[in-house]
Amino acid sequence: MKMQSFNTDGEFSANYKFVIGSILPRPIAWVSTINEDGSNNLAPFSFFTAVSAKPMIIAFSPMIRSSTGEIKDTAKNILERKHFVVNFVTEDLAEKANATSSELAYGEDEFIHAGLTPIDSDSVKAKRVKESPVQFECIYRDHLSYGDQPGAGMIITGEVVKIHIDESILDGDKINTQKFKPVGRGAGNDWFKCDSTFQMERLMKAQIQK
Ligand SMILES: Cc1cc2nc3c(=O)[nH]c(=O)nc-3n(C[C@H](O)[C@H](O)[C@H](O)COP(=O)(O)O)c2cc1C
Repeated sequence: MKMQSFNTDGEFSANYKFVIGSILPRPIAWVSTINEDGSNNLAPFSFFTAVSAKPMIIAFSPMIRSSTGEIKDTAKNILERKHFVVNFVTEDLAEKANATSSELAYGEDEFIHAGLTPIDSDSVKAKRVKESPVQFECIYRDHLSYGDQPGAGMIITGEVVKIHIDESILDGDKINTQKFKPVGRGAGNDWFKCDSTFQMERLMKAQIQK
């Protein structure tokens, strides 16, 4: 291997292309929130991960918008109103999820823009995406901010207080990945399907020492 090495103290775009080109594939949180005037907001975020099973905590990162230097509507809404829903994106929903990443003016409803159906949640004010087969109702827990310059991220964590799952993707009490058909985000305009998996048994210490 002949390695090339890069410092990370330059422009946002120089770092960004390596972040999105290395951390692969990235799951997508399709986050719905409520705007100040009560209208809906919806946007995808692939800087997203699981943090804790009990309490059930997830985290995602809306960055400061690189084009305007402004905080994204999703982050503003969560910090102000504390409620959000993480909806999951499937192969069938990928195009609509992509459409909801458009920079609409604050207060413009991405559900309408993408032709999606908002439905009431049980425990939070933010709406769920009816078309999504897995929906997590979340209450804001905490956040960490890494600056206010364009491209600076912020970790927002939320406690998942209610889960909704379409029973057609369940095998008993487990989600079947082949039926779920989630998609992930790659570098540039790349997206991932999860239709190629392989299995390995996790070995216990005693088996390794034999
Ligand atoms: C699949 C996908 C994943 C994205 N992931 C992120 C992300 O992790 N963080 C981020 O700041 N923006 C991400 N974006 C861009 C936001 O969705 C976009 O900036 C959107 O306009 C934010 O909407 P809001 O202002 O309503 O919150 C992503 C876009 C797409 C299409």
